[in-house]
Amino acid sequence: MKFLGKPRSPTAAFLPLCLLSLKILQPGHSHLYSNRYAGDKVIRLIPNTKDEAYALKKMYHHLKVDLWQPSSISYISEGTVTDVHIPQNGSRALLAFLQESNIQYKILIEDLQKALEKGSSLPTQRSRRSPSGYNYEVYHSLEEIQNWMRHLNKTHSGLIHMFSIGKSYEGRSLFVLKLGRRSRAYKRGVWIDCGIHAREWIGPAFCQWFVKEALLTYRSDPTMRKMLNHLYFYIMPVFNVDGYHFSWTNDRFWRKTRSRNSRFRCHGVDANRNWRVKWCDEGASMHPCDDTYCGPFPESEPEVKAVANFLRKHRKHIRAYLSFHAYAQMLLYPYSYKYATIPNFSCVESAAHNAVNALRSVHGVQYRYGPASSTLYVSSGSSMDWAYKTGIPYTFAFELRDTGHFGFLLPEMLIKPTCMETMLAVKNITMHLLKKCP
Ligand SMILES: *[C@@H]1O[C@H](CO)[C@@H](O)[C@H](O)[C@H]1NC(C)=O
Ligand SMILES: *[C@@H]1O[C@H](CO)[C@@H](O)[C@H](O)[C@H]1NC(C)=O
Ligand SMILES: *[C@@H]1O[C@H](CO)[C@@H](O)[C@H](O)[C@H]1NC(C)=O
Ligand SMILES: *[C@@H]1O[C@H](CO)[C@@H](O)[C@H](O)[C@H]1NC(C)=O
Ligand SMILES: [Zn+2]
Repeated sequence: MKFLGKPRSPTAAFLPLCLLSLKILQPGHSHLYSNRYAGDKVIRLIPNTKDEAYALKKMYHHLKVDLWQPSSISYISEGTVTDVHIPQNGSRALLAFLQESNIQYKILIEDLQKALEKGSSLPTQRSRRSPSGYNYEVYHSLEEIQNWMRHLNKTHSGLIHMFSIGKSYEGRSLFVLKLGRRSRAYKRGVWIDCGIHAREWIGPAFCQWFVKEALLTYRSDPTMRKMLNHLYFYIMPVFNVDGYHFSWTNDRFWRKTRSRNSRFRCHGVDANRNWRVKWCDEGASMHPCDDTYCGPFPESEPEVKAVANFLRKHRKHIRAYLSFHAYAQMLLYPYSYKYATIPNFSCVESAAHNAVNALRSVHGVQYRYGPASSTLYVSSGSSMDWAYKTGIPYTFAFELRDTGHFGFLLPEMLIKPTCMETMLAVKNITMHLLKKCP
């Protein structure tokens, strides 16, 4: 139980791990990511007319901004809120343009480098904390998460089995934890993935939290016991392993995979636009340098192909697919790629309604819920739509906290409240599955 409780004696298993995190975070100087975000800003803008929206799109293109919300320039229209990360050398031009053209804006983050360093614990604190007990209230590097998985596989073999479903583009193993009481009887399954998009760090933190809570409360909480006795949870804490690693070592705001393109210098494909469901249509880009690039063909990304193969193979017994993203505070269900109502809408809708109420009961945080197309935006080739089309009746995508105050830099202090409330939503959906709903 070393990984679950409060600090105990140091373990050998952790020593190489904290050295690793030191190496990543402290490459000989005091700034993270070589100070590359110094002076960068995150600005929220709301164009009020078609002309303003058009002008903004042109400006974004020119300044090569990193769009935080929505994920593509193509979604920008009058009345949509857009959060953009502007490099230091472009922010002056943009602010001048905004004042001149009277477009409403608000600076969300004044200095991104400072925000980034403030929100995370310092490397020295990390290393002091790591050797004793496992800290679920900090973000963990890929190496740390994989070591944690290996450790649980050894120490909790009654409830956990760790296996690999393939290799990433850069050759990393794609690990999944099968969580649930072993049983000869037929058991249905729930798939959970986190970290399809690299920079959404709260996702992997939630996957870890879910596993921790399951192990910690299996004996004491009747709901959890029922869940683990009746279902297998297949949990993939980091889907986009290459991208996640890259977001720790090079670019905190990296979103895509890291595959190379033969004709362009840009790397990566949006792993949530690469699925064979209305692939590369509305809400996806054909250009390799865009953040919503759909890839050269469906399932071109080895990570997507590996998960698709697994789900195809197990689709008869997997009842639910849950995917964790950030940020927006939304609980979304199909369709993403079109405005239409799914069959069995009422079951899925009531599951979402209850889950959002359960979530709000913890800290009062409000989530919107509904079909992804009308609640967030239209996007084709998403994992959720694909899973639904493949025959999994309950498919959801969570957009976790917040609504833009910190955006992708959700401070570590907020990991616990975010995970606690999300936990209740996931338990609520799971219990819904165990009941009969036509
Ligand atoms: C800002 O700096 C980057 C990197 O140095 C450069 O690629 C880009 O063209 C610059 N943008 C502007 C608007 O000057
Ligand atoms: C998990 O543990 C089992 C033994 O209990 C072992 O066979 C398996 O290889 C381990 N998984 C990984 C990925 O190391
Ligand atoms: C799910 O949420 C609904 C609405 O908040 C609540 O009435 C119900 O008891 C919850 N069920 C479980 C199992 O938590
Ligand atoms: C809708 O519900 C029926 C009855 O439970 C089931 O047979 C069918 O597969 C469901 N359809 C979808 C798309 O989930
Ligand atoms: Zn995402």
